[in-house]
Amino acid sequence: MRTQVAIVGAGPSGLLLGQLLHKAGIDTVIVERQSGDYVLGRIRAGILEQVSIDLMDEAGVGARMHREGIVHGGIDLLFKGERHRIDIHALTGGKNVMVYGQTELTRDLMEARAAEGLPTVYEAANVQVHGFDTETPRVTYEKDGTTHTIDCDFIAGCDGFHGVCRASVPRTALHEYEKVYPFGWLGLLSDTPPVHDELIYANSSRGFALCSMRSHTRSRYYLQVPLTEKVENWSDDAFWDELRQRLDPAARQVLVTGASIEKSIAPLRSFVAEPMRFGRMFLAGDAAHIVPPTGAKGLNLAATDVKYLSGALIEHYAERSDSALDTYSDRCLRRVWKAERFSWWFTSLMHRFPDEGEIAQKLQEAELDYLVHSEAGSKTIAENYVGLPL
Ligand code: APR
Ligand code: PHB
Repeated sequence: MRTQVAIVGAGPSGLLLGQLLHKAGIDTVIVERQSGDYVLGRIRAGILEQVSIDLMDEAGVGARMHREGIVHGGIDLLFKGERHRIDIHALTGGKNVMVYGQTELTRDLMEARAAEGLPTVYEAANVQVHGFDTETPRVTYEKDGTTHTIDCDFIAGCDGFHGVCRASVPRTALHEYEKVYPFGWLGLLSDTPPVHDELIYANSSRGFALCSMRSHTRSRYYLQVPLTEKVENWSDDAFWDELRQRLDPAARQVLVTGASIEKSIAPLRSFVAEPMRFGRMFLAGDAAHIVPPTGAKGLNLAATDVKYLSGALIEHYAERSDSALDTYSDRCLRRVWKAERFSWWFTSLMHRFPDEGEIAQKLQEAELDYLVHSEAGSKTIAENYVGLPL
């Protein structure tokens, strides 16, 4: 089989890239290790910045997102038992974010790809990338007992943090930066109305909590838990009890609880691999970088990589110019590091760190008090939250 761009991974990065390239008349094949249902079963982020909304539109798959997505112009920060709204819309000159689950975005992209008859190989085993430092890169995989080869011009490594693309690069060609946080997020999804009409990020002496949503009838809540915690140890009742204790009295009163649809624990990590290009292979999304979820930057960073990569590949084929491909890694990394900084800072501000004692809580509260009462401080949060300019 031959294609122009072989894409490894059918998460949001790979699917969005495939759709944008298709619109420009560029052929792709996507190889994905899991089944489509498995990919859709993963509950991930839920907040889209304008860059992601625009790309969905550009890819021609934005209709349902505009119908069902919920526009938010602010977030609440809760500390010392009181909530303070950051008016993102006013502080950024009219920008907003949109609540639209990654699962829904992925489904829209998958359906569009299938409707256009574009090739996606699901349940591809032993995917390997070859010759990306030559003019003739290849991707091989096993399916139905046979080894298949895809010859291509370029490989897009959209295969997430545990993927094969970054892992295939010689260790000497790559620099990895990593911080693992000493806690995780226990998430619960339920068909209950959200406790508030915008998100609540809560700093509590019992640990961080987040009240988010997927729709007006589906809520997503998170609790900071020790890394050693097991999801089996958390009944729904235990979750709701703990959440209540981390909320303010007004929220506690209106919180509607119910049976969980999904419950899982995710570790928190900051990670960047530099560079993001190796000859004719380009990394995009979680394959190259991970942010802790405080601030909801992961999906939006992936979308920005895809914007730059699709633009550069389109320029290559349309104009025979490699200048955008040559600057791809540097342009992405500049933005990636700023989002890494914000996500790390917001995480540090909102969580309880074991071993840091009571003084850390007091210092966080003082910083939060400063931020919500200073226009400059509030603006810093708002402009990072909606996404820094491209
Ligand atoms: N071969 C083929 N596919 C692979 C391989 C492999 N060796 N390894 C992983 N994959 C697939 C995974 O099964 C997954 O479907 O690559 C896909 C990567 O998808 P994501 O992990 O979702 O990463 P990405 O598409 O970059 O999405 C960006 O934004 O909200 C954040 O972290 C969140 O996933 C989200 C990310
Ligand atoms: C989510 O809804 O899953 C979500 C929202 C905001 C975050 C992280 C996760 O910062």
